[in-house]
Amino acid sequence: MKSIKIGLLGLGNVGYGTFSVLKRNQEEIKRRAGRGIEVVAVAVRDMARAEALVAGGCKVVNDPYLIVNDPEIDIVVELIGGYDLSKTLVMQAIANGKHVVTANKALLAVHGNEIFAAAQDKGVMVAFEAAVAGGIPIIKALREGLTANRIEWIAGIINGTTNFILSEMRDKGLDFATVLKQAQELGYAEADPTFDIEGVDAAHKATIMSAIAFGIPVQFDKAYVEGISNLNAVDIRYAEQLGYRIKLLGITKRATVNGVEGIELRVHPTLIPAKRLIANVEGAMNAVLVHGDAVGASLYSGRGAGAEPTASSVIADLVDITRLATADPEHRVPHLAFQPNAMTDIAILPMSEITTSYYLRMHVADQPGVLADLTRILAERGISIDAMLQKEPAEGETHTDIIMLTHQTQEKNVTAAIEKMEALNSVVGTVTKIRLENLS
Ligand code: HSE
Repeated sequence: MKSIKIGLLGLGNVGYGTFSVLKRNQEEIKRRAGRGIEVVAVAVRDMARAEALVAGGCKVVNDPYLIVNDPEIDIVVELIGGYDLSKTLVMQAIANGKHVVTANKALLAVHGNEIFAAAQDKGVMVAFEAAVAGGIPIIKALREGLTANRIEWIAGIINGTTNFILSEMRDKGLDFATVLKQAQELGYAEADPTFDIEGVDAAHKATIMSAIAFGIPVQFDKAYVEGISNLNAVDIRYAEQLGYRIKLLGITKRATVNGVEGIELRVHPTLIPAKRLIANVEGAMNAVLVHGDAVGASLYSGRGAGAEPTASSVIADLVDITRLATADPEHRVPHLAFQPNAMTDIAILPMSEITTSYYLRMHVADQPGVLADLTRILAERGISIDAMLQKEPAEGETHTDIIMLTHQTQEKNVTAAIEKMEALNSVVGTVTKIRLENLS
């Protein structure tokens, strides 16, 4: 059978990784896909660099429209990132009846509903395994492997840069700014690391998983996003003394508030028990923990970025499309796991309505009645304390840190309690709040 023809948009790390792995493993891949998968053209800005890399292995162009409009090309692989040009090119490829593979989480988290609807109308596939957690086949697991389950929750370390930074902060006792600088020097963090450190990249990925897990549209604008740039090294140490590690988690879960079903969708630094396997996923690695009603908890871990790990996912999508290209569109795996006419409109909950446990740190005067005031404020709002740590004041100091871990409560209760605590004369400055998940 004639090979399937691929056009690559972009030949950066992942593009070149895709080109090389397809070439290196072409026989194996052909035996799996049933036909050859051949890159026939790449569109790039730097033609000379690309020509040196592909060494005559395919055509090099610098106009991406020559790829999306090329009648010979069956699948367009979008690896240029961003929202604007990539969206125009993907929509044009779909309009031309081409299948699309993309690693662009930002594009799908923000414009996915429009893109999937266009693909559905045209009867083409848009595949995006590489968009979430790089080389880990988590989309495949959620959309197909766990299809029997009612998914209850997902919690993932889905950004390698921040996991590397948090691991180094804990391991070496360094502060955030120092480790970020090192991460940039080592090439782990981008020159502009905002999307990674402020949690945006993780929120894009959590948004996509949320849609697939619960059969809802992608709704990045409703995600709560908090990064790690304000995280204090002292909280990492206190958490450790209490048996926890702090990870940047992307969390999405079913919840019922006042009898109404909702979905939590949030990214923030989170204390998790150090004994959990996922707490021990360190450095730039990713891991996703999924809880389904039938399977229970299952953990997927591996490299969340990098040329060949991400290429591994891009090529898995190419093989899937190659196998399914001739299948009736109605009987393919739906883009967002659920049939397009079977999506639900369960709302994403506002942050005030989510339920979790909390780590609270306050700097207080070491005098009688302070602890009583603090615990009364919590008790009045129905917040129960799970554990507490009070440090002896340092030599000659009159103030000390108190750390409290709470049982589960709604965020609005904790917000109200913190406001009261900060108004006490005995509490200095602000109360640090970090959410805590037991993941049990
Ligand atoms: N920048 C991401 C990370 C990889 O650090 O994990 C691509 O999403």
